[in-house]
Amino acid sequence: MLSLFLSALNIQTFLIGIVVLLTVYKLRQRWQYKLPPGPFAWPLIGNYEVMQAKFLHDICAKYTKIYGPVFTIKLGPFQMVILNDINSVTEALVRRKADFANRPFMKSVDVFTEGRKDIAFANYTPTWKLHRKIAGKALRQYLAGNRLEEVVHSSMKKCLSLMAKENGPFDPENYIDLMVFNILHAVCFGKRFMKIENFTETKKRLIGRFVSDYVSICPTININSLNFRRKLLMLKCLCHEETFDCCNIRDFTDSLILARNEAEQDEEMMSQLTDTHLRQTLVDIFRGGIDTSRVTLYFVVRYMAGLPDIQSKVQEEIDRVVGKDRLPRIKDRESLSYTEATLHEAMRLGTVSAFGLPHCTLCDTQVGGYDVPKDTMVMINHWALHHDPNYWKDVEKFDPTRFLDENGKLGMKPESWLPFSAGRRVCLGETIAKPELHLIFAMIMQRFEITMPDGTNPELKLSGSGVIPQPAPFKIIVKDKKIK
Ligand code: HEM
Repeated sequence: MLSLFLSALNIQTFLIGIVVLLTVYKLRQRWQYKLPPGPFAWPLIGNYEVMQAKFLHDICAKYTKIYGPVFTIKLGPFQMVILNDINSVTEALVRRKADFANRPFMKSVDVFTEGRKDIAFANYTPTWKLHRKIAGKALRQYLAGNRLEEVVHSSMKKCLSLMAKENGPFDPENYIDLMVFNILHAVCFGKRFMKIENFTETKKRLIGRFVSDYVSICPTININSLNFRRKLLMLKCLCHEETFDCCNIRDFTDSLILARNEAEQDEEMMSQLTDTHLRQTLVDIFRGGIDTSRVTLYFVVRYMAGLPDIQSKVQEEIDRVVGKDRLPRIKDRESLSYTEATLHEAMRLGTVSAFGLPHCTLCDTQVGGYDVPKDTMVMINHWALHHDPNYWKDVEKFDPTRFLDENGKLGMKPESWLPFSAGRRVCLGETIAKPELHLIFAMIMQRFEITMPDGTNPELKLSGSGVIPQPAPFKIIVKDKKIK
């Protein structure tokens, strides 16, 4: 009995000790630095109000009014500084160079990135820089040919024909997921993934939703579906080939190996970039590309269904520039300004990557007039940038003309539009995502007239939670315009 009492007392003393230590540490930090302000946070638990909020961006909008665009919140054990306007974001990501370019450590991330050998979650180190440089070069090499267009055309033709068979209201989510998954799979491995008919059942296993703690689809894809082990063997064989025919690039994996072989780096540096890094690059493409692209398309299809006038203008433009006898091509993009602007506006109002990926400071630094000590987690509130009334007139109105100049051409990028982020950690896939999403959207609009079932409220409601907003499930009716 006494030993029980003593051990209970010990636990109590231990916990009190921890709380006292944490409080002393906090007070020391407050004296030492001018830290960004923020709401009261319980030790270990964090801000109760933040935990309760359905969407982080809603509560951030409230705190911006109270504390200004740079503030601190605490979610469980994670304390983070949130940047909520374009000035603080460009200061941190661009003007402060690499100060904010690290990523915070999280155990789950460490596991699924095989010791942070990926691009998205790895720290800002010389190995990471080389890894990202090689992956960027591989993407450029891949995009230099017509492969992306061919891949999108062939995947989309199948999906659209299947969609055309729907003769009543249906949720387009499965079709959109399949389009995006098949395209990315073909980009990486040169062929489409699987028969469309099997997709619905296996989808849940393959595309687990990208939840707030960043546990991703990778482990399932990695082990079960894409036969990565065989791929890894292939990678190894190819890496040891003496010559590599550049004209033979079939997919991103080929370009990746070529870019690695061509990299002019010393032996020691190259030896740090293992086959695990190469494999993780493919996982990066899937992890980075799937949820972002599919939710963007889900948003834009939902907006088009509820906004028939804007849909007609997009279709008029596509009919005029492309016509009905051929499919839209990447080179049409510059003549399809209204279509592109509509996509941009959907990406603004439906910011899929609302808080991007967490950053972490490499050194003691500053932003917005506050100190930010080394190793602080920092989040970029892309949602706030895209809904900032100081930069957007009638914030909630869907208006593609914001992105057009006086000649109806796509104008300069609006200052507070930053869906792919900026600086050292800018989205690696931006160059592929933009033409890919444009082609998919243009092909959907060329082929179908989209309406909503009678009685549906045209206003878009958000669902999802935390940092990943998406449209609440909806149904559409498609009228096939019978394109070749
Ligand atoms: C609508 C489409 C997309 C959006 C809105 C988007 C947005 C973003 C954002 C906000 C980040 C975080 C940047 C930061 O840390 O500040 C990011 C990172 C990243 N994205 Fe994308 N992305 C999209 C598509 C893609 C695609 C298609 C790929 C792959 C082909 C991709 C690969 C990556 C990678 C690898 C990173 C990590 C970059 C790094 O840490 O250096 N993304 N993306």
